[in-house]
Amino acid sequence: MAESIARGVVKSGLLPASQIRTAHLGYARRTAFESFGVKVLDHNSQVVEDSDVVILSVKPQVVKGVVLQLRSLLSEKQLLVSVVAGVQLKDLQEWAGHSRFIRVMPNTPAAVGNAASVISLGAAATEDDGQLISKLFGAIGKVWTANEKLFDAITGLSHILYRDEKMGLIGLF
Ligand SMILES: NC(=O)c1ccc[n+]([C@@H]2O[C@H](COP(=O)([O-])OP(=O)(O)OC[C@H]3O[C@@H](n4cnc5c(N)ncnc54)[C@H](OP(=O)(O)O)[C@@H]3O)[C@@H](O)[C@H]2O)c1
Repeated sequence: MAESIARGVVKSGLLPASQIRTAHLGYARRTAFESFGVKVLDHNSQVVEDSDVVILSVKPQVVKGVVLQLRSLLSEKQLLVSVVAGVQLKDLQEWAGHSRFIRVMPNTPAAVGNAASVISLGAAATEDDGQLISKLFGAIGKVWTANEKLFDAITGLSHILYRDEKMGLIGLF
């Protein structure tokens, strides 16, 4: 997911790859990011220290540990974003120690630049923050803002529509 987002943002011209950084240990992912000019660092802390916007794109079972490890480096000067499925803003905000957070739920076709993403703003995220993230995720598809309570229903529906499109049965309503 992180690679799809970075590729979309670079391809759209919103940001040059030189302004994006990530941390990975796995060789395959490091090489994939480096192949289009993204700087790959060894530690998440190096990424956070150096960034205005931090996007969390790890598996749901590790996100709490990752945020708690970074907590001492996080402040409201940074806009935090999570694409992690099923993890609520209230928990993310509590682990991070601040609420300038935005939760984004992209659906699977992000990988082919055809995502439908829903975003929800945390307590201290501003309208400008929301616009910035809509712009970034707009690079991989369409973006809507919604109440977080509706996320599960919306992603469920988008998966049904995606499956239907694959079968040639496009739902219209
Ligand atoms: N794929 C989708 O279509 C999709 C859609 C909506 C939401 N999401 C959400 O996006 C998140 C990522 O999904 P994904 O499909 O991209 O999974 P993925 O391919 O397994 O990517 C997760 C990445 O996390 C990295 N990672 C693991 N532990 C880490 C740590 N402690 N610190 C930093 N990085 C760490 C791994 O990198 P290394 O092993 O290389 O270090 C790996 O590249 C998930 O929470 C998922 O719910 C995915």
